[in-house]
Parts: sequence; structure tokens; C-alpha cells
Amino acid sequence: MVKTDELPAPKGEAAVFNLKTYLAEQKQLVEEALERSLPLAYPEKIYEAMRYSLLAGGKRLRPILCLSTCTLMGGTVAMAMPTACALEMIHTMSLIHDDLPAMDNDDYRRGKLTNHKVYGEDVAILAGDGLLAYAFEYVATETKNVPPQRIVQVVARLGRAVSAAGLVGGQVVDLECEGNSEVSLDTLNYIHTHKTGALLETCVVSGAILAGAESSDLEKLSRYAQNIGLAFQIVDDILDITATQEQLGKTAGKDLVAKKATYPSLWGLESSKVQAKQLIEAANAELADYGKKAEPLRAIANFIMNRDR
Ligand code: FPP
Ligand code: MG
Repeated sequence: MVKTDELPAPKGEAAVFNLKTYLAEQKQLVEEALERSLPLAYPEKIYEAMRYSLLAGGKRLRPILCLSTCTLMGGTVAMAMPTACALEMIHTMSLIHDDLPAMDNDDYRRGKLTNHKVYGEDVAILAGDGLLAYAFEYVATETKNVPPQRIVQVVARLGRAVSAAGLVGGQVVDLECEGNSEVSLDTLNYIHTHKTGALLETCVVSGAILAGAESSDLEKLSRYAQNIGLAFQIVDDILDITATQEQLGKTAGKDLVAKKATYPSLWGLESSKVQAKQLIEAANAELADYGKKAEPLRAIANFIMNRDR
């Protein structure tokens, strides 16, 4: 088991940063922490359903972003790990609900059957609710060696990110626009800055808050996050067209079938790639003041651009 204090600390100027190793190590830490975060208990059925989706793998980019910004701002992995786990709980619950028949009606997620396909709709709804509530409890009770004011700020940010001003609002507009391929760029941007961007921004900013970052740093990191958030969604839309179900672990080609407005449907594939690349460059420009220490965040931004799943 990799211990948190054995994490790859930002290395000296000469050391070459290896993203693959970094991501693999951070992902393993996150997997272990998630496994410990939610033990099986009575009533087993609901805990099994929550664990089924929470421990189904995935890139774990959200928790890794939170850990990386916390260490960039001088904090430790241990300070951010409960929040990192909570972010993954929230992300997972949003996917469980997104896949329900009342929403996107999807059968596969992270290479496995969706939660409601295994446990039924009733339990899947409750598993999502259970994960959402537990995420807040987990941050409040498990965050150690961090001043309480910072924890309260993180809890408030999490609440806002999932609210009607964040994920829920983005999802509602997304559902409203279903079947309408004439959606404007402003509406498309609204959907994605809320549905995906708000939580990604919270991952980055909450890691920095836990470390006690200054507001000027929070602003830079927030702009970094907004840029990678939008790039993430553009790449998602591109992959929905170009990747296979095996690669994605979920149904591919759904946007075209659902006649969904996407960035490629507005701009075409090539221009979408150019836009995503520009957003990644803008994101990385926000990290200029941090030099080599920001190598993980820079590499994660590049990874978002170049990922194939
Ligand atoms: C996937 O989008 C879905 C989301 C990113 C979030 C959806 C949000 C909700 C269901 C609201 C959840 C409720 C709370 C309280 C947070 P997608 O359908 O475009 O992508 P996919 O192909 O991965 O399904
Ligand atoms: Mg969906």
C-alpha cells in the first residue's frame, strides 16, 4: 500500500515529471481511500449499490486535481483526501442519476452495467442520495489538521457546485435542450460550465482552500479549472463521435442518436480540437507563476486534451 507521506513530492528543477507514474500513484491512493471511506454495513443492499458505483474505477481525475492543488499550495495529501473522496462520491452520484431511465437511460458506465440495471431504479435513486449526503458528512468529520474555517468554505463550495446554480442547473438545461440541435453556443456553454465545469472548478479550488491559499492564487486556479473544464467537455463530445464503447466504458455515438447539440455539431471536429487546445493553453498560462511545482496540473491539462477515453 502506498502511504500518503510517500507521495511523489514536486521534484527538483532537473527531475523529469512523469505524468503516467504520477497519475497511477495518485489513483492508487484515491482507490485505497475510497475503499476505506465506505465500509459495508446494514442495510447491505444500499451500501452494496453505493459501493458498486463508487468503486467501479474511472480516471479519478477530480480527486487527483484536488490533491494536486492542495500540494501545489503547500498542503499535504492527507489534508485533502477526505474532500477528494467526497468529490468522487458527488461525481459518482451524479452519474448514477444521469443514467436513470428518467434522464439519459443508459445501460453502461465505467465498463459495467449502470447502477439501476443491477439494483433497480428505486435503489439506484437512493444510492445516489446516500452518496451525496455522505460526501458532506465525510468532509466535515474526516478532514484533520485543517482550520475549521477552511473546511466550512469547502463545504459551502461543494454545496454550490451541486445546486441549481451548478450541476443540477446544468442538467436541467441539458434535458430541456434534448432533441434540439439548434441550441445556441451560449446555452451549450451554460450547460457545460454548470454540468461539468462547476464540480471541476470545486475540485481545484477546494484543494487550494484546504492548503490555505491566498485569494490571488484561488483566482488563478479557478481560471485554470474553468478552462480545463470546458476543454474536458469539448473532448468528451469529440470522443462520443470518434471513440468506441470499449474505449469509453459507456455507449458511444449517443449524441448523434439523441440529436444533441455538441461542440462538434456547432463547429465541426477539427475546429473543436483547435478550441480545446486553445483552452488548455489558456489554462496552463494561469500556472506560469508556479514554475516546475505546477507540473502535475500542467500535465493533467494536457492529458485532458489528449485522452482517448
Ligand atoms: C453526465 O453528462 C452527467 C453529468 C456530468 C452530471 C449530471 C447531473 C445530474 C444528474 C444532477 C445530479 C444531482 C445532484 C444533486 C448533483 P452526459 O450525459 O453528457 O455524459 P455521459 O455520456 O457520461 O452520460
Ligand atoms: Mg448521460
